[in-house]
Amino acid sequence: MNQFIERTQLIQEWIYDAAKLIKSSFEENLDIQQKSNRNDLVTNIDKAVEKQFIEKIHQFFPGERIMGEEGFGDEFQNLDGIVWIIDPIDGTLNFIKQQYDFAIMVAVYEDGIGQAGFIYDVMQDKMYSAHKGKGAYCNKKKLPPVKDLSLKEGLVAISSALMSKEEGLARLVGRASSGVRLIGSAGIETAHVASGQLIGYIAASLAPWDIAAGKIIAEEVGLIYTKMNGSSIDLLQKNPSLVATPTAHKEIIMLLNTKK
Ligand code: IPD
Ligand code: CA
Ligand code: CA
Repeated sequence: MNQFIERTQLIQEWIYDAAKLIKSSFEENLDIQQKSNRNDLVTNIDKAVEKQFIEKIHQFFPGERIMGEEGFGDEFQNLDGIVWIIDPIDGTLNFIKQQYDFAIMVAVYEDGIGQAGFIYDVMQDKMYSAHKGKGAYCNKKKLPPVKDLSLKEGLVAISSALMSKEEGLARLVGRASSGVRLIGSAGIETAHVASGQLIGYIAASLAPWDIAAGKIIAEEVGLIYTKMNGSSIDLLQKNPSLVATPTAHKEIIMLLNTKK
């Protein structure tokens, strides 16, 4: 059996343990710190979850490198070998302000190629997962390949940063599609594109840990995941990102070009 499939049970156990830790914090006072701006926050729980994953990976897979959002992992100049990419809480603002719509995301890459991706929507208890070439799942149910819907046939999620920085684009996409939605978790939004509830998700600037797991899941159901200009995602940097059905992907890139 593929070694990345063998890891699944462990990874999912670790994710469910992390979800328990997160939920047990709901009654506590969080220690909240500001990172780059007042909407870019980190809590003691984000940090504790990341540390817990790193401890488990070191114990079970010593020598493998880890990229974690909160900086407890390794430094990266390349993606050689096996690399774990972890977002301990995706949607930290939602976690703090809503206790809802946040996810735990784990991905395993080998030489830059996505092998296994997990997005766990904690409050909906939905585990989205995929292994390269083996399809994607929501809990134990296989996700069918996406219908190649066009922009006018579906809803498109956008990031809050995209809406505030690129008002024009949000308006264009809103008019051309059935409508725009904002959830505030790149992971959950990508999972909803993969499960057919949305036809696309556009974000002004996603970090590698916002993208890594979702890209594997998205590609397994036939979605296209690129930078906003159509070029390949670079997991060593932030990327203006676009994931959509093949037809909506082309249409959104055309809209972006008309805007220039
Ligand atoms: C953020 C969320 C948000 C997206 C931001 C991300 P975080 O992740 O996914 O929806 O718009 O770009 O940084 O910081 O909550 O893990
Ligand atoms: Ca994130
Ligand atoms: Ca995060």
